[in-house]
Amino acid sequence: MCKQFIFHLIMGFVCTLCVVIVLIVYLNAEKVDRPNIVFIIADDLGWNDVSFHGLDQIPTPNIDLLAYSGVALDRYYTHCICTPSRSALLTGKYAHTIGMQGYPLVNSEDRGIPKTEKIMPQYFKDLGYATHLVGKWHVGISRTEFLPTLRGFDSHFGHRGGYIDYYEYTLEEDLDSSKVSGMCLYRNLTPAWDVEGYITDVYTETAKAIIESHDETKPLYLMVAHNAPHSGNDGALMQAPPEDVRSMRHVELPGRRIYAAMVKKLDESVGDILEALLLKGILEKTIIIFVTDNGGMTSSSSYGSNFPLRGMKMSPFEGGVRGVGLLWAPGLLPDYLWKGYIHVADWLPTLLSAVGAKLPEGIDGLDLWNHIKLNKTSPRNNIFEIDDYTGYASIISGDFKLVTGNVTIKYSHHKGRDLVGVIGTEHSYEDNIRKSKMYSVLEKIGRPFNITNISLKTNSKINCKGKDNEDNDLCYPHNDKLCLFNIKEDPCEKIDLAEVYPDLVIKLEKDLKMEMTRLIPRYPIPVFRDTRSAPRLFNYTWAPFADSL
Ligand SMILES: *[C@@H]1O[C@H](CO)[C@@H](O)[C@H](O)[C@H]1NC(C)=O
Ligand SMILES: *[C@@H]1O[C@H](CO)[C@@H](O)[C@H](O)[C@H]1NC(C)=O
Ligand SMILES: *[C@@H]1O[C@H](CO)[C@@H](O)[C@H](O)[C@H]1NC(C)=O
Ligand SMILES: *[C@@H]1O[C@H](CO)[C@@H](O)[C@H](O)[C@H]1NC(C)=O
Ligand SMILES: *[C@@H]1O[C@H](CO)[C@@H](O)[C@H](O)[C@H]1NC(C)=O
Repeated sequence: MCKQFIFHLIMGFVCTLCVVIVLIVYLNAEKVDRPNIVFIIADDLGWNDVSFHGLDQIPTPNIDLLAYSGVALDRYYTHCICTPSRSALLTGKYAHTIGMQGYPLVNSEDRGIPKTEKIMPQYFKDLGYATHLVGKWHVGISRTEFLPTLRGFDSHFGHRGGYIDYYEYTLEEDLDSSKVSGMCLYRNLTPAWDVEGYITDVYTETAKAIIESHDETKPLYLMVAHNAPHSGNDGALMQAPPEDVRSMRHVELPGRRIYAAMVKKLDESVGDILEALLLKGILEKTIIIFVTDNGGMTSSSSYGSNFPLRGMKMSPFEGGVRGVGLLWAPGLLPDYLWKGYIHVADWLPTLLSAVGAKLPEGIDGLDLWNHIKLNKTSPRNNIFEIDDYTGYASIISGDFKLVTGNVTIKYSHHKGRDLVGVIGTEHSYEDNIRKSKMYSVLEKIGRPFNITNISLKTNSKINCKGKDNEDNDLCYPHNDKLCLFNIKEDPCEKIDLAEVYPDLVIKLEKDLKMEMTRLIPRYPIPVFRDTRSAPRLFNYTWAPFADSL
């Protein structure tokens, strides 16, 4: 009897203590006023597809103004393919350390970022953020447990695979030696059959609605992963509304002209999102990132350009990995180009640091927040690109880059020189800037833009040192031949220095081999394209076919 009474008394005391502790923790958590994060990703946007990189053929006034009033990242490095790049973004780890490297995930493949990995939205959700994904996923769709709403996102509206038709929202791929196609646009776990419109507009409207209805008692983490300017399907024609194509009629080649219209819609989306943040009254408490997932694709059906950089998406040359990147936050230096190395895996610790959170251990990403904010030298000195599927690997170390293995030759030249043609004259750069939404947004927040302050536009132009018209005698690695470039002196990777610095080649090859010991092979090797995923088995949708396997 007495014992029981004492037991209840103690338990009562313990419970009260628990409640008090929970309340203290909760109240303290409430006190931290963390900034919002809006992370915008373009799909396959090339180095030469934004006007702040020097070329006015495709006007991107909203993106440019974001760069001029934020920080442009001169040496932003990605993985050269979207699944690896997005995996590194989400985990803060090199894709090859989690088996997500190489050829992009196809919808019929049973693979995803391993469930043992904690990913970016989970970190932000733990900090009390409202977490939303609008647009592309592409890091695992075969099982429900791989999907965004089971991995830290409160909501997902968008496409799950690598791309989507801009109007029909289907994805086509090879399966069982024929082509199949299925609907791939989802609202959380349900196919979004009711949607109509051009997908870039649909995503912009969805992002705006999330911002408008956001409950400000929580900070916001919003990722907007556009389909643009990726093609709507593998090898499909470029797609944009006719009136936008017409407004780009100064672009000489018809394919590039439609591509320019796709980029125009992407640029307008950035202006619309910024305006929505302003109208909500939260812009000045928001950190904005705008990046591409990897280099542009130049082919007979895709008209991206990384010119004058060498190579494109799917290659370890600069055109594949040195991408468009910028960061915007209140209180940064104006007209500012940060020259340090930053890799896509660095965003996770950098953003966690920016919001004052504890950094995870055991990742490859580095916290660069203060280095970028205060224009300090980057602590990042190495960048790896390793693909055991195609069979190439490269290492950047200081000013040098060593490329080894089996690169795909057709992705490794200088391309895009023939895409720059202009009929008559392009639009006035200054007019485009003045007419953009971002221009008035900057006025309204008391940071009016002065068109004379765009030294960034000149400074971020790549100088091939008069050699940009030569494409012979390029070094391609094969068998025992390794290629060494000084990517600071020779950003266009024209001059092989392997014979000039044999000791450096040996050292870098050793570093690369050491990194390769961390590689987890890209899996699953036995079944790459699984016929059990066929959309006709799921009412013509791409569904999580492997749930019951
Ligand atoms: C940033 O640092 C570099 C190198 O020290 C310098 O050249 C540049 O002017 C600085 N930029 C700004 C905006 O202060
Ligand atoms: C290099 O790539 C080609 C084309 O993909 C392939 O046929 C060949 O087997 C590869 N060689 C090696 C050594 O991986
Ligand atoms: C823009 O900058 C230039 C050069 O610094 C200056 O002469 C001009 O007055 C500025 N314009 C405005 C509207 O501030
Ligand atoms: C614009 O540039 C001028 C000189 O080129 C400088 O005096 C002025 O401070 C700059 N304005 C801003 C907002 O950076
Ligand atoms: C099957 O697809 C059609 C559109 O083709 C859609 O209207 C219908 O709701 C889907 N049925 C189920 C059970 O999801």
